[in-house]
Amino acid sequence: MMSSVYTGKRIVVGVTGSIAAFKVAGWVSTLAKEEAQVSVVMTRSATQFITPLTFSSLSGNKVHVDMFDAEGGETMAHIMLGREADLVIVAPATANTIGNLAGGLAPDLLSTTILATRAPVIVCPAMNSRMYTHPAVQNNLKRLVECNYTVIDPDEGVMACKEDGKGRLPEWDQVDPIFQKSISKQDLKAVKILITAGPTREAIDPARFLSNRSSGKMGYRLAEAAARRGAEVTLVSGPTALAPPVGVRCVKVQSAVDMHAAVMQHAEENKVIIKSAAVADYRSREIAAEKIKKDKISEHLELARNPDILFELGQRKKSGQLLVGFAAESSNLEVEGRKKLEAKNLDLIAVNNINSDDTGFETDNNQVLLLSANDAEMLPFTSKAQTSDLILDRVCRLL
Ligand code: CTP
Repeated sequence: MMSSVYTGKRIVVGVTGSIAAFKVAGWVSTLAKEEAQVSVVMTRSATQFITPLTFSSLSGNKVHVDMFDAEGGETMAHIMLGREADLVIVAPATANTIGNLAGGLAPDLLSTTILATRAPVIVCPAMNSRMYTHPAVQNNLKRLVECNYTVIDPDEGVMACKEDGKGRLPEWDQVDPIFQKSISKQDLKAVKILITAGPTREAIDPARFLSNRSSGKMGYRLAEAAARRGAEVTLVSGPTALAPPVGVRCVKVQSAVDMHAAVMQHAEENKVIIKSAAVADYRSREIAAEKIKKDKISEHLELARNPDILFELGQRKKSGQLLVGFAAESSNLEVEGRKKLEAKNLDLIAVNNINSDDTGFETDNNQVLLLSANDAEMLPFTSKAQTSDLILDRVCRLL
């Protein structure tokens, strides 16, 4: 397992008495797999829904329920847990616990721990939607926001009580980016970053197109990492199978001409532009309105050159703007990379070796050679997520 944002982070997960507690067992399991040190604190009523044994097995750590637990001499568990935490997550958070936190009350170990911590606190309410929308609960949630806690909106849908409405605990994929952001350095805070990702699709007729092997993974991981570090990210993406990252403005395009238009529309307002898209260099000269019958297809497809978006961005680069390109190369990485760095007026280029099975197109991992005017650095072979962070570290230094 490659290291993750969670590696070594001390996370307190406070579980309270809602049926959604079973979902949080999955969260704890994932956090532990991502190498976080998870301590679960349960309220008494939570233990009616799910056993402490479930959480101790999944987290690999003792589960805390009682305020005064003489065993093991942990009479100060609330101080110890609160002081050492990097993050406190309350999930699911019942109306009762929300009320305790809003009122500064400390009737149990969880609420005491939260009063005793200075770590970020993220509260995930889950309850019947009529309870959730009750003005008393809504007012309490406002007070939590005033205490600088993050409150994650529940989902809408059918709940365990068979009612339909707002109050369901969100899925892991929705909360994970918020948790990650809360424990990450905010060194790109409010920096506007435009990222392109994926292939482009050049239509021949309504059924056929020209494209390439890009999956978009590198650009999407970059967008996630930049957003996690506080950037305001616009992602211009060609067709991919990936879900748009949470907290990122996503603009979907098809062809290189579409991508060119979208990028030029947003280019000026962005401080950093990272072009990880694999833009098709050519398109079909004609796009047939009807599907071309096979006996009508000529053996020669007439092509037209697409605009080189990155080259154009380099031409109109404003002072203070940082332009980062990618290069897909199968040999002479440094020489070919430097040619593109200069020709396209870039500040940084990440050169991919596409001739290896475990880096480049479609893979989850990557190894890139990072080139700037007076520096060359071969990044380690690692996940695209970690490669993204290393590229962004360099962007931060250049800014
Ligand atoms: N790029 C672009 N517009 C194009 C082609 C490429 O903006 N029409 C950008 C890519 O997003 C990437 C960089 O240029 O950041 C280099 O892409 P690459 O395919 O490696 O290089 P090309 O310029 O197309 O040159 P070649 O195919 O000859 O290697």
